[in-house]
Amino acid sequence: MRHLLSTRDLSRDEAIQILDVAEDMADVANREVKKLPTLRGKTVINLFFEDSTRTRTSFELAAKRLSADLVNFSAKGSSVSKGESLKDTAQTLAAVGADAVVIRHASSGAPQTLATSGWIDAAVLNAGDGTHEHPTQALLDAFTMRRRLHGAASRGKSLDGLTVTIVGDILHSRVARSNVWLLDTLGATVRLVAPATLLPADISTWPVTAGFDLDDAVDADPDVVMMLRIQAERMHAAFFPNAREYSRQWGLGDERLARLRPDTMVMHPGPMNRGLEISANAADSSRSTVLEQVANGVSVRMAVLYLLLSGSAEL
Ligand code: NCD
Repeated sequence: MRHLLSTRDLSRDEAIQILDVAEDMADVANREVKKLPTLRGKTVINLFFEDSTRTRTSFELAAKRLSADLVNFSAKGSSVSKGESLKDTAQTLAAVGADAVVIRHASSGAPQTLATSGWIDAAVLNAGDGTHEHPTQALLDAFTMRRRLHGAASRGKSLDGLTVTIVGDILHSRVARSNVWLLDTLGATVRLVAPATLLPADISTWPVTAGFDLDDAVDADPDVVMMLRIQAERMHAAFFPNAREYSRQWGLGDERLARLRPDTMVMHPGPMNRGLEISANAADSSRSTVLEQVANGVSVRMAVLYLLLSGSAEL
């Protein structure tokens, strides 16, 4: 594998290998000197056409902990805002010798275009494209689930038998899509819960079950409840009556939280709309994995950069 564009084309062995290498990387993070010389001399470019806090900084930390040189290239303040095309940007990055390009773009398929265009001969890592995919987020989510389940004995394990309920704005969520493919590959059972207006039309072809009722889903006692952000910036119509109504029907509030098992994982990729899809108590409870997800993001991104750039392991 030369690029990481989607979780859809990852085999079970490849996915487990990435998670296992991420375990090794997490061990490095616990050392006093959190740095490996592995990617010395390699150049990684963060090419972000959309805003990001967690993903951009964790790719930056990941590259730096592997001793790669990293350049942050954000669309604001670059020639992109003067109308430079993706092609010209890619050719510029090729000219300066990028070995890997981490790209986030509002258009679904932009990373695929970059990887297959021939404009640049670098590994392409999809850091979120439109509503399509966000593969490293799904990998860090799976890594977080596996660690909560198996702790130090996680290596080699899948997510066989785990039940995961993903709730909220599925329609606009690249996180949901990448999770659905990866969780299915790793053996988990996925249920989607959302208002009918926020369920995509094509989910009948997805390996999931779907419903509209969060109370039913909570009473079904899932192992993981993953809450998604309402992506207001991608909404050009009214998908639900108002925030209060959304929160009452599809929010993880204190009352629903109390009905979950003490060891049910409450996940959210961030950024959270506290009080809308998730209450402050749910976000900060011992069930919440939100900060573990952020920390694990660095280990998982180190693993992916290492596997794509070091040439020493086959993906
Ligand atoms: C997600 C994204 O950008 O797709 N955030 C993230 O990467 N942690 C989810 C979101 O924006 O809601």
